[in-house]
Amino acid sequence: KKVGFIFDLDGVIVDTAKYHYLAWKKLANELGIEFTVEQNELFKGVSRKRCLEILLDIGQVKATQEQFDTWMVEKNLDYLAYIENMDSSEILPDVPRVLDYLKDKNIPIALGSASKNARPILKKVGLLSYFDSIVDGNQVTKAKPDPEVFLIAARNLQVDPEGCVVFEDAVAGIEAANRANMTSIGIGEENVLSDAHYNFKDFTEMGTDFIASLVQKNLA
Ligand code: G6P
Ligand code: MG
Repeated sequence: KKVGFIFDLDGVIVDTAKYHYLAWKKLANELGIEFTVEQNELFKGVSRKRCLEILLDIGQVKATQEQFDTWMVEKNLDYLAYIENMDSSEILPDVPRVLDYLKDKNIPIALGSASKNARPILKKVGLLSYFDSIVDGNQVTKAKPDPEVFLIAARNLQVDPEGCVVFEDAVAGIEAANRANMTSIGIGEENVLSDAHYNFKDFTEMGTDFIASLVQKNLA
């Protein structure tokens, strides 16, 4: 049996959540809506469109289709400005160690992200070549917690879902991985990601022996 590893992008490989937050906050404030870091938690792993729906809901703001589309574009342009100069220094600690380990063992690696900006970000930080498949917001029709994104990634890697391990920082992402019958690893606060099969604060806490054990377990 084969194993495959699937990484979420935002909050797992790079800390872009802070840039998403700044861009949403700017739009929110323009619309007279307060937007807190806590509310930003609800936006993690969620599509751009769904984020705007939630934001307008929080602020009880009604929008025409035209306004809605304009605000989506505005938020993304602000976000793109924040990430324009991103480089490898923004890769989260020990991510390259884990990627190198998997590459060295010839284990297929995929990206499973809701972002439509995933590919340019991987390119900016210099990690594009690690990924055998990139599944992002441009290919997925059903957002996390729907398992679609991870199931497409597994199919692309030609690995059974049961043989896949998913790294996720979002509640919706852990649910998506569990619904796909994959092994879910929460990266972040254990109390937030309590449905994950395993939890780590970040990759520095994850020993190489643990990754080796996941490979063994998922081969069985
Ligand atoms: C990721 C982030 C979300 C973001 C979504 C869409 O899942 O965690 O916060 O809303 O991607 O990103 P995009 O770059 O397409 O606006
Ligand atoms: Mg994420």
